[in-house]
Amino acid sequence: MPIGFFDSGLGGLTVLEKALRMMPDEDYVYYADEANLPYGEKTPEQIAQFARTAVECLRSRGCKAVVIACNTATSVAVEDLRRSFSLPIVGIEPAVKPAVEQTGHRRILVMATPVTIRESRLKGLIAALDAEDSVDLLAMPELVRFCEREEYDSPAVREYIRSRLQDKDPSAYSALVLGCTHFNHFRSVLGDFFPEPVRIIDGSLGTARRLQALLEERGVRGGGTGRVEYVVTGGEPAPEELVGRAGRLLDRLKRME
Ligand code: DGL
Repeated sequence: MPIGFFDSGLGGLTVLEKALRMMPDEDYVYYADEANLPYGEKTPEQIAQFARTAVECLRSRGCKAVVIACNTATSVAVEDLRRSFSLPIVGIEPAVKPAVEQTGHRRILVMATPVTIRESRLKGLIAALDAEDSVDLLAMPELVRFCEREEYDSPAVREYIRSRLQDKDPSAYSALVLGCTHFNHFRSVLGDFFPEPVRIIDGSLGTARRLQALLEERGVRGGGTGRVEYVVTGGEPAPEELVGRAGRLLDRLKRME
């Protein structure tokens, strides 16, 4: 039985790539909800509905577990999905905890979508770590669109990042948390805006590890060959085009390691 992944688009491939490396003996179904992208600019009610539809689709394809490879959908819908579906569901959250642990309460910048930043889940996470005074939040919604166009570094990308950081002092931060799976694709260009040594931290490895542990716990690990099947909603991009983009992105992530 395969493992289901979903995201609004191609961001979740950053988590899939980690899972593939860790568990090449699994099969995967990747659901890209392109019809409803960007999630980060929708209402929580809309996102909850998109997430439900995604999990229903993955369940109907026989998935033994589902990974919400999207911080925005996790922040809005993970509780509701766990209540509604009996299959194991793993979410992803901005990796604020490791950032606080690794930087010892020095300043941290969390980049995420507008919804993740507005929702109470992230605020609760920061409060539980007693880190309200050391964490700043910044919405970077355009990076999602740049990523979907495979535009990871261009004058427009750099100008956008520069304008969003205008009111911040990058030298004040010792860690940058990438709280949206799409943002991983911009690791290197983002790094250029922060003087060394800024740690760039994301939750994809932790999420893949949690998935592995959960499958082992349930005694359902393995049985596949690393096959990835894609499901794309809407007509744009065409499924063949999305599969091509996804393949290029996975290769790029592999090279980035
Ligand atoms: N990749 C998603 C996340 O991790 C959301 C991107 C979007 O706005 O659609 O938050």
